[in-house]
Amino acid sequence: MKTSKGSSHGKIIWMGEHSVVYGYSAIALPLKQANVHITLEESTTNKLESIFYTGPMDKSPDFFMPIAFLFDSLQKYFNAPDMKVILSMTLVFAGGMGSSAAIACALTRAYYRFFDKEITDQTLFEWIQLSERLAHQSPSGIDAHTVLSSNPIVFTKPSSIQPLMTSLTGYLVIVHSGIKGSTLEAVSLVKEQVLHNNGQTHIDSLGQLSLSFSRALEVHDHSLLGNFMNQAQEHLRALGVSHPAIEELITLANSFGALGAKLTGGGLGGCMIAYFTCKNKLSDFINQLSHPYWIIDLEKDFV
Ligand code: PMV
Repeated sequence: MKTSKGSSHGKIIWMGEHSVVYGYSAIALPLKQANVHITLEESTTNKLESIFYTGPMDKSPDFFMPIAFLFDSLQKYFNAPDMKVILSMTLVFAGGMGSSAAIACALTRAYYRFFDKEITDQTLFEWIQLSERLAHQSPSGIDAHTVLSSNPIVFTKPSSIQPLMTSLTGYLVIVHSGIKGSTLEAVSLVKEQVLHNNGQTHIDSLGQLSLSFSRALEVHDHSLLGNFMNQAQEHLRALGVSHPAIEELITLANSFGALGAKLTGGGLGGCMIAYFTCKNKLSDFINQLSHPYWIIDLEKDFV
């Protein structure tokens, strides 16, 4: 029986979520420690096997619908026989870690391998965006680009992707709050704030912070980086996309000496990121955690 495999990894947004939707630049990092693996297997019916659902692909749960749609589109594009999709992942679904883009990427890679076809990053990006448009409505493209990248990027809509050139030091810890986030809901909540309240002011401030953050990265000003993260969190909170569970984690991280902490991704739950330069303080913090967490060593994890 013919099979093929495809993989991808997650992402985190260090600075610039939400304002990136409005044309400002954002800084995102691949999260290679958290990944997705897909096995595609010729089968008698189209089905999905995963920890959260096993059964016919067209009956998969609502949150999986964007991927089921991508599956259907790839089936038609390749005129493929019925397939079983086996999905395993260490990424958390709906956690602001780019899980939907990573699954879309791994699935597309598996199809192209199954049919012995080469695929460019641009084509892969377009397939990912096909399902991301259903997951997020008007995705900026940052998730799709970061799951395709091995190194940190500075992204500006619609298609400017610059590698983050500066050398990085310190650690980012990503902690899942245990609350499922909803990017779709968060993006529309922010849109409401922009249309009817003073949301645009917060978006502009977030955009400016992202620019200042890039400059602080260039001069390795760690305390300023942390300070900008804290300021960004204030604006994200004011936009209504934080969550008490995220706030609790931020307070905890700060009490252990984080230089800065904020939500990452769409929000309304999902993950918090905190920036540490002292390894001992980071260890003390993670020893207190009962939530899943991932650590990025900014100096060692990227080339
Ligand atoms: O929640 P995530 O990981 O999908 O991140 C979404 C980032 C937003 O800026 C909120 C939306 C977007 O499309 O850029």
